[in-house]
Amino acid sequence: MSLLLGASILQPAGPAARSIASLWPWLLWASVVAVVVVVVLMAVSMRRRGRLDDPVDSTEPRWGVGFIIIAGVAVPFVVLAATYVMSLVEMRELASGGDGAETTIEVIGRTWWWEVRYPNGATTANEIHIPAGEPVMLELTSADVIHSFWVPELQVKVDQIPGRTSELWIEADQPGQYRGQCAEYCGLQHANMIVQVVAEEPEEFERWLDEQARPAADPEGLAAEGRDVFMSTTCVGCHTIGGTEAQGDLGPDLTHLASRDTLAAGVMDNTAGNLAQLVTDPQSVKPGMIMPPTQLPDEQTEALVAYLMELE
Ligand code: CUA
Repeated sequence: MSLLLGASILQPAGPAARSIASLWPWLLWASVVAVVVVVVLMAVSMRRRGRLDDPVDSTEPRWGVGFIIIAGVAVPFVVLAATYVMSLVEMRELASGGDGAETTIEVIGRTWWWEVRYPNGATTANEIHIPAGEPVMLELTSADVIHSFWVPELQVKVDQIPGRTSELWIEADQPGQYRGQCAEYCGLQHANMIVQVVAEEPEEFERWLDEQARPAADPEGLAAEGRDVFMSTTCVGCHTIGGTEAQGDLGPDLTHLASRDTLAAGVMDNTAGNLAQLVTDPQSVKPGMIMPPTQLPDEQTEALVAYLMELE
């Protein structure tokens, strides 16, 4: 549930989001003033209109052309120009903020999940681990349709366009989890295309990264039976498990599936029961997803889940 709370642009958790959030009060109060002025003018003009049939009172002040030029041209020009300049200053800061980022992470949008690749070969899904307190460069692209990467507490949203790579730096002040969301309509499960940025102390991040680049450990007992089930069903065609013959790339890399918090891109917690449901009836979890159902005898499902839950 914690995934669904927080994630507001008004609670920035990193330097980029903070600088964006600093624009917000200015825009809010400028808009409030504009609305109040317009409403007052409307009220005044309605009162006058009510008296339209009265004879014109030549002693009443007439604002005329001068008023139109000031209120209709000069004031909006000043307000829009000021907003534009403030945005330009902000954009320049945002553009250079990622200079010196030491880690570059590829984030590939897919229907409807996120593939995440690190330079050391570690590949994961729907969770982007980063070291807290330093900028990290993301290379954003898409494998199919246009998606948009947005973690409101950390940065602006950036479209992920097939055949193009866009760079975006992110930085989190403190260790913690920051929820992101696909922000460009991409089909049936667009709303369930959730990404989690996990910021950790740098040493902890390094440990995680080394661990994720390792092949899967050899299973024993029930889990070993589960591996045989995996390798003999459709699973093997679409997923990769490092160190095994499973090298598919249609679905998420499962080498360290058990280390992730959620399944199906943030839709459900990563538990044995949920995993069993996802394997046997994926359409009930995420209607429209391309994963086919895997109908197996109960004991085989149990073994398969035991194997997957061991992939830490
Ligand atoms: Cu991906 Cu919306």
